[in-house]
Amino acid sequence: MILNDDTSRTGELPMTDWSRDLITHSGFKFHVRPARPDDVVALGAFFARVTPEDLRFRFLSSMKTVDQDRLKSMTSVDHRQTESFLAVEPSNGAIVATAMLACDPALEVGDVAISVSADRKNLGISWELLNHITRYAVAKGVKRLQSLESRSNGSAIKLEKELGFTAEPYLGDSTLMLLQKRLDQQTSGS
Ligand SMILES: CC(C)(COP(=O)(O)OP(=O)(O)OC[C@H]1O[C@@H](n2cnc3c(N)ncnc32)[C@H](O)[C@@H]1OP(=O)(O)O)[C@@H](O)C(=O)NCCC(=O)NCCS
Repeated sequence: MILNDDTSRTGELPMTDWSRDLITHSGFKFHVRPARPDDVVALGAFFARVTPEDLRFRFLSSMKTVDQDRLKSMTSVDHRQTESFLAVEPSNGAIVATAMLACDPALEVGDVAISVSADRKNLGISWELLNHITRYAVAKGVKRLQSLESRSNGSAIKLEKELGFTAEPYLGDSTLMLLQKRLDQQTSGS
């Protein structure tokens, strides 16, 4: 879940192009790029292919569908405090995953959240997206990434630990875990 989402949303293009062609360990190729306001319909179609349990894990609420306001907030971002990456399939442009980074105003801490469509899981997409967002955050000078996860979301917690996050109980809600990764000593390597 994203904690820092109090940004002004201008829909301006990012200063630096953070679009990339990526390939996963399984050989799956995809393109990652910042979301644009005209992605809102395609993003809605993407979330229709996300399982109800994964929606709950992504948004930490029991929503059955992702409403228009939420879709707009994920496609019209300021590209400074908040970035919203879309992973798209090169053959047809369909969105297969989203990865958001929402930072505090000082750009010191970034909350990361990923979601993958049900038919594209276990291909290595989230691994590559988390690495992409880490390189992006390092380049922006972000000092720490964090992600709030349901304790029952074993897949996400395991994946994040494999990518260098540490897990601790989230104070105030025993159903949640706080995953964190320090970036101070990393280089962007993008
Ligand atoms: C959790 C979630 C994001 C994982 O997405 P995914 O794209 O299926 O994950 P990946 O394919 O990248 O990783 C799956 C496995 O392949 C492994 N893998 C992927 N790329 C790898 C690589 N380059 N080298 C070695 N192992 C790799 C991962 O370690 C993981 O193994 P594990 O299950 O033993 O931990 C997905 O299930 C999801 O959308 N969940 C709901 C939303 C959610 O939980 N969001 C919170 C995350 S911030």
